[in-house]
Amino acid sequence: MPKKRPWNNTRVSEVLGITFPILLGPFGGGMSSVTLAAAVSNTGGLGSFGANYLAPEGITELVRELASMTPNPFNINLWVPLPGEREAELSATQLEESAQRLSPYATLLGIAPGAAPPQSFPDFDEQLAALLAARPPVISFVFGVPSPSALLEARARSIVTIATATTVDEAVVLDEAGIDIIVASGSDAGGHRGAFLCDVDESLVGTMSLVPQVVDAVSAPVVAAGGIADHRQVQAAFALGAEGVQIGTAFLVTSESTASAVHKDVLKSARARTTVLTSVFTGRAARAVPNEMTRGLKGVESELPGYPLQSGLTLPIRRAATSAGNPEFVNLWAGQSAVLAPSGSAVDYLRRLVDAVDEVSPNER
Ligand SMILES: Cc1cc2nc3c(=O)[nH]c(=O)nc-3n(C[C@H](O)[C@H](O)[C@H](O)COP(=O)(O)O)c2cc1C
Repeated sequence: MPKKRPWNNTRVSEVLGITFPILLGPFGGGMSSVTLAAAVSNTGGLGSFGANYLAPEGITELVRELASMTPNPFNINLWVPLPGEREAELSATQLEESAQRLSPYATLLGIAPGAAPPQSFPDFDEQLAALLAARPPVISFVFGVPSPSALLEARARSIVTIATATTVDEAVVLDEAGIDIIVASGSDAGGHRGAFLCDVDESLVGTMSLVPQVVDAVSAPVVAAGGIADHRQVQAAFALGAEGVQIGTAFLVTSESTASAVHKDVLKSARARTTVLTSVFTGRAARAVPNEMTRGLKGVESELPGYPLQSGLTLPIRRAATSAGNPEFVNLWAGQSAVLAPSGSAVDYLRRLVDAVDEVSPNER
């Protein structure tokens, strides 16, 4: 029988040029931190930054900043728009209904009632053009696959590409498109579900089931994501055939993370043992710790405007609640293993995780 390669010498570490095949999950919507991304890259993993909300100039500046903070590879993540999503407009009726639904929360938080005008979002093609021109070592995508010409351009510039699949079918689409590394994101994961072929409720495969099926179906190396926080889960992911792991929630609570205090406090509490999939905050299903807002709007979830309109509508409430330290009206994104995350720095967490995985890797000796 051929000897198994050591867990820290997989195709993922080789392709990315990193020491440990441990990826920091990108956090979109302004939740990423350059300090955290650089810390992970400087410790031998792959630091990532979610740039979905940034204008092209911001992306250029971000790549420059991260390159000055680490000599090692790092990753910048964008959201591929789903068809029609960015063109959707809010009708006067939707605006009125939304104002009615959200007013009680606004009143509680002492901010002006009524619906805010929807946010405008940067154009994806312009974001991608800026990203390719800035030439970071790694770029990643969620909610779909970029165009063949963009992937060719990435290859020509020696940029490694990563994309997320939530189902085997999505993984096959990414593999056929020539994506270098596929993240198999199980439904245990925190934040938005990245489904792009079917509705989210038909794309909810747990990490334990998804990873080996994706490994069997694709030729690209697979990174397991969703509910991974401690060494036992990393070990399990490699046993399932993954050649890397992507960790989000456990890094979100570290000291280098700029997640809000209210968010970190909830993630560190027993309350984070329970999570739900909810679209009340952004109009798109995401895993979060339940609170008054998820429960209050649950009954009307299917009537709410989709992403990104709902995200713009709830933003003033989420911001005010975050400033007030009130967890009941904040999108408390969380994966299912939040309570296994240790407190402290990301550097310590990563080093201890690597040591612990090494200790329990008898197949490597
Ligand atoms: C706060 C938060 C924001 C996220 N934003 C993004 C994003 O913008 N793009 C992306 O590809 N994944 C995003 N994710 C998913 C993570 O990158 C990662 O795959 C996931 O958190 C792994 O599951 P875990 O949270 O159980 O560790 C986000 C996750 C969280 C918790």
